[in-house]
Amino acid sequence: MKFFLDSADLNEIRQAASLGILDGVTTNPSLIRKAGAQDFHEHIRQICESVPGDVSAEVTAVDYEGMLREARTLAAIHERVVVKIPLIPDGIRAIKTLSAEGIRTNCTLCFSATQALVAAKAGATYISPFLGRLDDISSEGTRLISQIVQIYRNYHFQTRVLAASLRHPMHVLEVALLGADVATMPFSVMTQLLKHPLTDIGLDRFLKDWEAYLQSRNPQK
Ligand code: E4P
Repeated sequence: MKFFLDSADLNEIRQAASLGILDGVTTNPSLIRKAGAQDFHEHIRQICESVPGDVSAEVTAVDYEGMLREARTLAAIHERVVVKIPLIPDGIRAIKTLSAEGIRTNCTLCFSATQALVAAKAGATYISPFLGRLDDISSEGTRLISQIVQIYRNYHFQTRVLAASLRHPMHVLEVALLGADVATMPFSVMTQLLKHPLTDIGLDRFLKDWEAYLQSRNPQK
């Protein structure tokens, strides 16, 4: 399973990359705004230089021609840019065209399995089902992931399932068990994944015992 950071904050991205387990980054207009990016394209270029893998950058046009124009510009920033396109009719048309041009896409704002089926047929590189936002409205986000994974397996679609809108470690665990290809998560969730109180307590005990052992061997110091 690949781990992507869902952030446009360069400090967070560099910190996560330093762990050595980061496979990519996803951004969206809200995250770009939150990061206070001065120049969108330059910001995306800097993210690409900070991580080894794919970096999703989203178009803001909602018409076919506009999306194509923005997508080509974004794809020209760096070879690892994946263009995020919303799951609307013009977006599906754009994904089909961009896919034929060899421009990779991340079809975003997916909330149903039939939407995911359409995106795969159009040739999307990634599909982004938003778990947390479904949970927010009392819908079962994990069920959507399991349906998409099943459908893509049934028909051998190459589109990768990128579980998005993950809010806590249990979301990551659930999508991992269901076979999602990628989990994109905020920095706080990524750091929570490796935390366990028994690890901290155990380490503390080991270090104290080691100190006592050293003291017992050399009581003068
Ligand atoms: C994914 O690509 C989206 O940027 C993101 O996961 C949305 O998460 P949110 O619902 O927490 O805003």
